[in-house]
Amino acid sequence: MEKITAPSILAQKGQKKIKMITAYDTPSAQIADKAGADIILVGDSLATVILGYETTLSATMDAMIHHTAAVARAKPHSLVVGDMPWLSFHVSEEETIRNAARFIHAGAQAVKLEGGRKRLNVIKSLLNAEIPVMGHLGLTPQSFYNTGGYKVQGKTSKLAMDLVEEAKILSNAGIFALILECIPDKLAQIITKSINIPTIGIGSGPYCDGQVLVFHDVLGLNFGHIPKFVRPYANFSKIGVDALSKFFADIESGKFPADNESYHMDKAILKELTSSLKPKNKKVANLS
Ligand code: KIV
Repeated sequence: MEKITAPSILAQKGQKKIKMITAYDTPSAQIADKAGADIILVGDSLATVILGYETTLSATMDAMIHHTAAVARAKPHSLVVGDMPWLSFHVSEEETIRNAARFIHAGAQAVKLEGGRKRLNVIKSLLNAEIPVMGHLGLTPQSFYNTGGYKVQGKTSKLAMDLVEEAKILSNAGIFALILECIPDKLAQIITKSINIPTIGIGSGPYCDGQVLVFHDVLGLNFGHIPKFVRPYANFSKIGVDALSKFFADIESGKFPADNESYHMDKAILKELTSSLKPKNKKVANLS
């Protein structure tokens, strides 16, 4: 199977739906790759999904690079995209390029960043540095405090028009794909038809060129609130609790480990060991 690249994702527009999922470590990347993911996103959602923070604003460059390297070590066929965390592309173009380069050195083949026209300059400088960029419009979780929470975006005709414009600006700048998060389905359809690059939806209805969800949400590997747009295909939290409860019960009852789960010593060596551990000569011992 050939490695998927940013140009091959771009070429998928209008041909074949793009399948994208997040992953944050080697086993989850192996699972995603074996299941046929086109794109694995090392999302800054790792802050909330696996590190227990309240918002994605707590994702740091060091954490993102640590997890991107773990995903890359799975050597997936899927395109690995590193998600640039808050403040990693807001300070200067130079700092943005250096941060994006850390993702590439860690094994990603592209980066994603949130925002529209405000981020045009940094997007252009990344493209100039030969780093493929994926955009992200609609609900941008890094704007949590600015927008006052997680809300569906583009609900008025003015805001919807603005999103269509932003999508065109990013597409014309040369990004290879665009995430549309939590916007009305028909607006996502209009944007998808208005630009030449693939749109990948999350909570944005069925008309996008592809879909993405968070790994742990799809597998039901969480205990918190599940948004309306998530469809869990398994209940790994329950499976995990059930399996560990059985394991702990077997430890308590002595059923684990069994004979075939233990290593055994050669009989002759065991005999030699036990006899050499026996008290040697009681008489001698008493005399001394
Ligand atoms: O961080 C993330 O997981 C994302 C998504 C698009 C799901 O940005």
